[in-house]
Amino acid sequence: MSPLAGSVSLWLGVASSWSGTPVPVRQGGAARGLGRRGPLQRGLLGLPARRLLRLCAIQFSVRAVAVVSPMPTIYPSPSACQGGPVSSIIALAGSPSADSRTVALTEQLAEWLRGHGHAVRVVRVRDLPAEALLGADAGDPAIAEVIAAVAEADGVIVASPVYKAAYCGVLKVLLDLLPHMVLAGKVVLPVLTGGGPVHMLALDYALRPVLQALGAHHVVPGAFVVDKHIERTPDGVRLAPEAEPGLTRVVDKFSAALT
Ligand SMILES: Cc1cc2nc3c(=O)[nH]c(=O)nc-3n(C[C@H](O)[C@H](O)[C@H](O)COP(=O)(O)O)c2cc1C
Repeated sequence: MSPLAGSVSLWLGVASSWSGTPVPVRQGGAARGLGRRGPLQRGLLGLPARRLLRLCAIQFSVRAVAVVSPMPTIYPSPSACQGGPVSSIIALAGSPSADSRTVALTEQLAEWLRGHGHAVRVVRVRDLPAEALLGADAGDPAIAEVIAAVAEADGVIVASPVYKAAYCGVLKVLLDLLPHMVLAGKVVLPVLTGGGPVHMLALDYALRPVLQALGAHHVVPGAFVVDKHIERTPDGVRLAPEAEPGLTRVVDKFSAALT
């Protein structure tokens, strides 16, 4: 039981017993039935003043704990309750490269996530209208459609190559068009590819702050993959044995956070 739930049930008990009506109250995590009448069930008005003050102090401290404790950031997907795909995921893969390793890697992650039962769509930012992106035209139909899809998704993958020690500009021009707090309530997976490990911390110092500025509270541990570990093949991508186990763990964690 979360502290918040504990607080709510205790409040209910206090509120109801103030009027003298007995209600089941949870204490110490165990439900106590109506048959056992504890102090709260007997009605607060019948209590001595010192006992009443102590109860108020307990109530205050329980409520304070509820306020400062971290809010849950995993939201069950509505589709999971209907027996459909577990969650809907959109992957924004930004790279100016026509044969992008980042896109190939993102397609592979998408494939694995489909294997987990999720519905996944990969958006290659490079394929969106360049003039509208550079002119920050969020009303362009293709861009507006992607923005709406991001808003509706349960999970979002944000993938980019490292360029000049940060994510690339092609991704950023799309991120700049997303509405304020669009990632709130979503599970977000950051992914970067780079020429070497020297800039792997760009995940945390560059990409993560942007995601948080967009409202993401639940950013799962991201993936950084060195470009030489991603080989494009005619039918997709071949990952180096050093890279694959870590990536499947990242996908498992992302998937688990969504369900
Ligand atoms: C303009 C440019 C800048 C780059 N800057 C970096 C960098 O600062 N750090 C790094 O590790 N790799 C850097 N790289 C290498 C790419 O991040 C890496 O090759 C990446 O996998 C390319 O992904 P893509 O094929 O999706 O474009 C750079 C590559 C280019 C073309």
